[in-house]
Amino acid sequence: MTQQKIATIFGATGFIGRYITQDLAKQGYIIRAASRTPNKAFFLKPYGNVGQVVPFPCDGSKKDIEKAVNGASLVVNCVGILFEKKKDQFKKIHTDLINDIAKASAKCGVNRLIHISALGCDTATSKYAASKLAGEKKLLKAFPEAVILRPSVVFGREDNFFNMFARMGRILPALPLIGGGHTKFQPVYVADIADAALKISESTPDAFKKFQGKTFELGGPDVVTFKDIYAKLKQHAGINFIELPLPWCVAKIEAAILGLLPKPLLTTDQVESLKTDNVVAAKGVKTFSTLGIQATSMDAVLPSYLKQYSYKKNKVDAA
Ligand SMILES: NC(=O)c1ccc[n+]([C@@H]2O[C@H](COP(=O)([O-])OP(=O)(O)OC[C@H]3O[C@@H](n4cnc5c(N)ncnc54)[C@H](OP(=O)(O)O)[C@@H]3O)[C@@H](O)[C@H]2O)c1
Repeated sequence: MTQQKIATIFGATGFIGRYITQDLAKQGYIIRAASRTPNKAFFLKPYGNVGQVVPFPCDGSKKDIEKAVNGASLVVNCVGILFEKKKDQFKKIHTDLINDIAKASAKCGVNRLIHISALGCDTATSKYAASKLAGEKKLLKAFPEAVILRPSVVFGREDNFFNMFARMGRILPALPLIGGGHTKFQPVYVADIADAALKISESTPDAFKKFQGKTFELGGPDVVTFKDIYAKLKQHAGINFIELPLPWCVAKIEAAILGLLPKPLLTTDQVESLKTDNVVAAKGVKTFSTLGIQATSMDAVLPSYLKQYSYKKNKVDAA
């Protein structure tokens, strides 16, 4: 009898984590969806057969982490935050947590460990980036065979980026172009990241040798500026707004005020992040093509979920 494969996914309830959960469940893994609030993970159960996707309590303590990874052959970490609400929260979540996951995984004999980091963490000057880079270093020290995926900004039905700007653009007359809107991104489709995680998880031992300890920079086929992103929003969401160029110093002041909201629309650290382009390095890095994945364009996916914001659609609905 073949033993059933167990995968522990930290952050399975999140935007990227749920796609990875779905792909691994299809591949026959028993999934431990590790979450601070396991009730929140119940929506993942239909991704597998009865009893295949198991919400698993994990409060982030070393004890809970060890319980979650014990017996698993594969561990994936998708936990992350975009802004700090408490001092040292980036460090706790992006650096200390992955360090503890890596140590527990090594101790429990986990075969493969995949960690979602962030593109540009080695070049950007934000606290977010620094905490992600420090996490990568701790991870490789504790579990040298780990594989790191660094996505650029991620799009997909449940994303918090295009949806947020579309919502704002629909109701506000103007949206800011921070630093003039020249920062470059390489938006990446969430299902392609899950595909990458799946290919790495399921690669043969020989193929895996080429991936272990390596970092993949994951960007989609389109390299766009923030200004281009607004154009895509207008095109696919059917909305219109004025683009208001904001110098960096004014953006920092605005962010200092918006950063006080319970769920900030913008923080000073995010403004700092925007000062560095967020694109895949030109040479010498592993990418989607290393895995034989053809990355999906924004135009192929954005219309499917942005059209809900269209003024026209809502006029028809109201009629
Ligand atoms: N989305 C993007 O555009 C993007 C781009 C580049 C890199 N990334 C990175 O990719 C990873 C996944 O991103 P995502 O967009 O899927 O994230 P997400 O949906 O915002 O959240 C992922 C998970 O993190 C856990 N989490 C959130 N706040 C936490 C806290 N204060 N303490 C402990 N756990 C917490 C939550 O799990 P529970 O509540 O179930 O515990 C949540 O489901 C992150 O590391 C992120 O930095 C994302």
